[in-house]
Amino acid sequence: MSRFFITTPIYYINAEPHLGHAYTTMVADAVARAHRLMGDDVFFLTGTDEHGQKVERAAQKSGEGTVAFADRTAQKFRDLLPALNISNDDFIRTTEPRHFAASQALWRLVRDRGFIYKDRYQGWYCTVDEVFVPEKQLVEGRCPLCNSVVEKLEEESYFFRMSAFQQTLLAHYRQHPEFVTPDHRRNEMLAFLEAGLDDLSISRTSFTWGIPVPDDPAHVMYVWFDALTNYMTAVGYGSDAPEQQQRFAHYWPADVHLIGKEIVRQHAIYWPAFLLAAGLPLPKRIMSHGWWLMEGAKMSKSKGNVVRPQDYVQHFGLDAVRYFVFREMVFGQDANFADDAILTRYNADLANDFGNLASRATTMIHRSCGGVVPAPDAALLEREPERALRSTLDRVVPAVRALVEEFQLSAALREIWEVVAASNRYIVVREPWKLAKSGSAQELHTALFVAADTLRVIAELLRPFMPDTGERTLAMLGVTPSATAWVDLRAGTLAPGGTLGTTVPLFPRIEHSVEELRLMADDTTQGAVPQTPAPSAPAQAPAHAPAPAQAAIPATTEAPKIAIDDFMKVELRTAKVLTAERVPKSSKLLKLFVDTGIDQRTIVAGIAEAYEPESLVGRTIGIVFNLKPAKLMGIESNGMVLAASAEGQKPILISFGDNPPPPGSRIR
Ligand code: MSP
Repeated sequence: MSRFFITTPIYYINAEPHLGHAYTTMVADAVARAHRLMGDDVFFLTGTDEHGQKVERAAQKSGEGTVAFADRTAQKFRDLLPALNISNDDFIRTTEPRHFAASQALWRLVRDRGFIYKDRYQGWYCTVDEVFVPEKQLVEGRCPLCNSVVEKLEEESYFFRMSAFQQTLLAHYRQHPEFVTPDHRRNEMLAFLEAGLDDLSISRTSFTWGIPVPDDPAHVMYVWFDALTNYMTAVGYGSDAPEQQQRFAHYWPADVHLIGKEIVRQHAIYWPAFLLAAGLPLPKRIMSHGWWLMEGAKMSKSKGNVVRPQDYVQHFGLDAVRYFVFREMVFGQDANFADDAILTRYNADLANDFGNLASRATTMIHRSCGGVVPAPDAALLEREPERALRSTLDRVVPAVRALVEEFQLSAALREIWEVVAASNRYIVVREPWKLAKSGSAQELHTALFVAADTLRVIAELLRPFMPDTGERTLAMLGVTPSATAWVDLRAGTLAPGGTLGTTVPLFPRIEHSVEELRLMADDTTQGAVPQTPAPSAPAQAPAHAPAPAQAAIPATTEAPKIAIDDFMKVELRTAKVLTAERVPKSSKLLKLFVDTGIDQRTIVAGIAEAYEPESLVGRTIGIVFNLKPAKLMGIESNGMVLAASAEGQKPILISFGDNPPPPGSRIR
């Protein structure tokens, strides 16, 4: 069992957590989960960076005391973790006593080894990035990183003798080409190192919100000296307790510091220099990812263009959001966050490709084998396309493992989706529905076994990325998730004779446009739309949506059986359309005014792409009569029209022929 210690940056608490922060934490989570499944002894750390002038000023502005401000805002980052299903082992706050002890211990060690001296600092400081900016790097008096105005500082300061480590760091980079990934960041750091290192000012006297410098409390530590030390604090550094010292010996050095591209220098130069000065081992890898952009600009609080992950989780479900960010961002490069792209991926990759596969592979076993995994025929397994599917799996499983170890989550998901596509093709080629009618039992059982067995491997592979989906799919297959499933994952290991669980729809199609989803969210926040999916549930189309626009459950889904009483709770009745018109700014919605025989009311229906409004006037339709009212595009809809839509096709209203029953007739 290898040890695997992975960290995220600790986040500044002056901003609300946004998708950028959530992304780093989700990536670290997926990699940590994968390592656990590979049997590693994982320690996964995240937390908050709470000191420094920026936080002190934000606290002053808020009118709270600094401690109260820090407690409140750090909690927002902590609260995001369960909402994103993050499996961190610890959450560190730099305001904790254990961290004061660790930072001061590191300071003393570096000082006692002769790498800290006192001098006067004169220069420019960017409070937003908490960095000193050399005069030659200023861009018209502004910080080259974030474009904010820098401040002139002139104060007594402690300095870290960083210049002493140029050669040692260069040698380290040469001996460990994997130290900084991706390569273009490594090259930037090499260029920076080759240009020579200046000593670094590492204390401040102009504010007090920080960790006091040992033996000189007029100074607080430079926030990055304190912040970087968090990675050691959490595994026991600075503690006198023997068990903590053992933990430190066990877990340090970290295997990976996962960070965004803007803080590579602090992690790949400052931090290793501090550690070299202390005589401590260096982290093995610094992996840096790109930025999420909104219309080409970095998502950040100062630009006011941030995406709140919670909003997307509400629309699409958590696992769909996780899938999207992993799939869309190629590690190391920037990616654009676009609503259309997430909707398209949801419907194409999740609802269509994977959702249908999961539903078909299990439903057929329910229908033809009483829900019990059939035994395959050994000879039939040796035919094509069975062999080809098996060899695809044999290639993909180790490929996914290797890609995840290199943080290539997008490529790993692409590989998994190749298997999803291959399994869907397999089902089409074998046509088990035909075999059930006219084929041999061996042929049918082999085909159903292979489909279910492949689905099982896919479900196991998906667990780090979409933990809930992976486990729900395994539950559908009647497989108990094992903590170390990736150790010996391969095709052909699903046990015949096992009983399947219930097939549930995992990713119902969402037929709404992005625009409609947004408007519904607005209604939700005004309290008009009552239902949002539970955090652990997959995406559901909101319950108030008109029938055809409602997320369609794939035809092959075996939903749980309901009693007649449950069905009778839904009042289905006929109604006559009195007027019909398009809903402005919506391509899908029509506003119908109908006579229900009992009253006259407005119903908004998602059938504009299938029917001209005029063609509906005078027509008798079926409606859900007793549905709670809901607002759609600002219009109150009282009920829902009944229509059927085949996969990817336009909806068709149920019809009552030339002699329709009068409005208000009950449909049952
Ligand atoms: N507190 C420092 C880190 C100290 S680590 C010892 C810090 N905090 S931060 O709150 O600004 O978080 C920065 C991190 O958030 C980035 O490195 C990245 O992981 C994540 N992101 C913030 N905005 C981002 C995007 N727009 N896109 C992707 N990730 C981004 O820096």
